[in-house]
Amino acid sequence: MRTQVAIIGAGPAGLLLAHLLHQHGIECVVLEAKSRHYVENRVRAGVLEHQSVDVLNEAGVGARMMKEGLLHHGIFLHFAGRSHRIDFEELTGRAVMIYGQQEVVKDLIAARLAARQPVYFDVDAVSIHDFDTGSPRVRFRMKEEQHTLECDFIAGCDGFHGVCRATVPPQQLSLYERVYPFAWLGILAQIPPASHELIYANDERGFALLSMRSPTVSRLYLQCAPEEDVEGWSDERIWNELRARLNVELPSGPVLQKSLTPMRSFVAEPMSFGRLFLAGDAAHIVPPTGAKGMNLAIADVHVLARGLESFYRPGSRPGGSAAMQALNDYSQTCLGRIWKAQRFSWWMTSLLHRFDEHTPFDRRRQLAELEYIVSSRAAAQTLAENYVGLPLSP
Ligand code: FAD
Ligand code: PHB
Repeated sequence: MRTQVAIIGAGPAGLLLAHLLHQHGIECVVLEAKSRHYVENRVRAGVLEHQSVDVLNEAGVGARMMKEGLLHHGIFLHFAGRSHRIDFEELTGRAVMIYGQQEVVKDLIAARLAARQPVYFDVDAVSIHDFDTGSPRVRFRMKEEQHTLECDFIAGCDGFHGVCRATVPPQQLSLYERVYPFAWLGILAQIPPASHELIYANDERGFALLSMRSPTVSRLYLQCAPEEDVEGWSDERIWNELRARLNVELPSGPVLQKSLTPMRSFVAEPMSFGRLFLAGDAAHIVPPTGAKGMNLAIADVHVLARGLESFYRPGSRPGGSAAMQALNDYSQTCLGRIWKAQRFSWWMTSLLHRFDEHTPFDRRRQLAELEYIVSSRAAAQTLAENYVGLPLSP
């Protein structure tokens, strides 16, 4: 088997990259360890920055998002018994789109299949080879048979636990990491959202977030201990805790899904090694408080697709220095924006969560910072411009 770009992983990063490359006439094969049903039903992120919306629309895969997604012009910060609105539209002229990650994944898979392009699910024993040479290879097993995929480039879009970053010799990687002493218990519930916009609550009992997926489905989160057993949380306990922290009228309803998300900040540098490029969660993780995870994945592959497109552009000499330049810049171009998103995600996490090690001084300082944000236009604007998304290119 041979292709131009082998893409490992069919999450938002791998599928969008495949779509963008196909639009430029570049061949690729997507290899995914899980089933199609699994990736299309994995509940994760829900907020798209305005530029992620533009990227999906320009790629021709935004029609359902524009019809079913919810455009939000602000969020609420809730603390010290009161709610305050941060008006994105007024502060930045921008909005964000609420549209589930699994819906983005469904739209991208549909586009790939409609174009009759290869995406192989349920593959296993994926290994990558010779990416420091001009002829990389990917080995994998599918339906009990061993295959070798020869290619020009490998895109490692296989998430935090994938094989691509793990194959890079450790001495070639610099890792930066912070693990937070709490997790998020998340539920998807069959109830209309109790607020028309997201509520981020800093409460004495811990952080809570009210989000949504549609006019009839809510997505709600609670800060909890990282080692918490989800089964130990009855539906009734979750609803009571959410009501106490969010301070809204919240009817109970059927809980469709329950999950625990650990909280971590992580960056691996650089993001390219010879002919291997890491993108999305394979290279970096943010705590979800800033709603940046899926958006960073989209931004990375937007840059990578541009680099690959200039490499294969008719008239550019394959392997020539001009053709390689955009690809050589890939890591540095992405990391500038990634570190700003890391800073923002860390800051939102520090601002809104309860930390066991906090002294009464730290707690008062946290509340003073929240007061400052909701009373100063400059401070609110800083939050808003980061939340709606910093420019894609520096
Ligand atoms: P992924 O979506 O992880 O896709 C990687 C794909 O690679 C997966 O389909 C995986 O099955 C596949 N894969 C892995 N190993 C291999 C292999 N060896 N061979 C082939 N395929 C492989 N962000 C938010 O903003 N809000 C949230 O609420 C939120 N919740 C999250 C909950 C969880 C449990 C996780 C893990 C992440 C969450 N995120 C959230 C982050 C956000 O979902 C990610 O940033 C986003 O999924 C990144 O997309 P990706 O394509 O880089 O990686
Ligand atoms: C979500 O809807 O899942 C969501 C929204 C905002 C966040 C994190 C997750 O910050």
